Amino acid sequence: MIRLAVQSKGRLNEESLKLLKDAGIEVDDTKRKFIGKASGFPLELLYLRDDDIPGVVADGSADIGIVGLNEIAETGADVEVIRKLGFGKCRLSLAIPKSMEYLGLEWFEGKSIATSYPSILRCFLSSQGILSDIREIRGSVEIAPAAGIADSIFDIVSSGGTLVSNGLKEVETVFESSGV
Ligand code: PRP
Ligand code: ZN
Repeated sequence: MIRLAVQSKGRLNEESLKLLKDAGIEVDDTKRKFIGKASGFPLELLYLRDDDIPGVVADGSADIGIVGLNEIAETGADVEVIRKLGFGKCRLSLAIPKSMEYLGLEWFEGKSIATSYPSILRCFLSSQGILSDIREIRGSVEIAPAAGIADSIFDIVSSGGTLVSNGLKEVETVFESSGV
């Protein structure tokens, strides 16, 4: 029996299940049930939060996982990327309120940045010699500037729609990600 860890909800969930379906593997994906069985193949699915998938694969609780490269980078989990899947493409970017003038990375010196990806951000800023105040927040990151939680954000951008809806503009792309 192979144990495969997939995202329980979110963008990669549908694509992951479709990938299995296209391979002729049917899975029972009853929501709120966190272990699923496949028919036609000795496969068990673990439905997890995406940020928990790299660790679960690294410690052997799952044999294999489908997750964004961003989560592997953020957790630093000791896993091997064996295949890029061609879906779930997105980027991790810095964004600021759209009314603000932006001339370069120095903008972030001494500023606060809200993010769910503190490790990738810290690594990037230190490589650029920029000192900022990183504020970790687990979700709805784009709310931070308008809510007075932080001056700027570092988060996933896909279509860019969430940034626009929250009056933000993307100013630096830091990391390109996709499902692996
Ligand atoms: C993700 C990401 C951004 C948004 C980007 O959020 O964190 O907020 O999608 O997509 P877009 O550029 O196409 O608008 P998600 O919906 O996964 O929710 P969460 O981050 O609040 O958990
Ligand atoms: Zn978000």
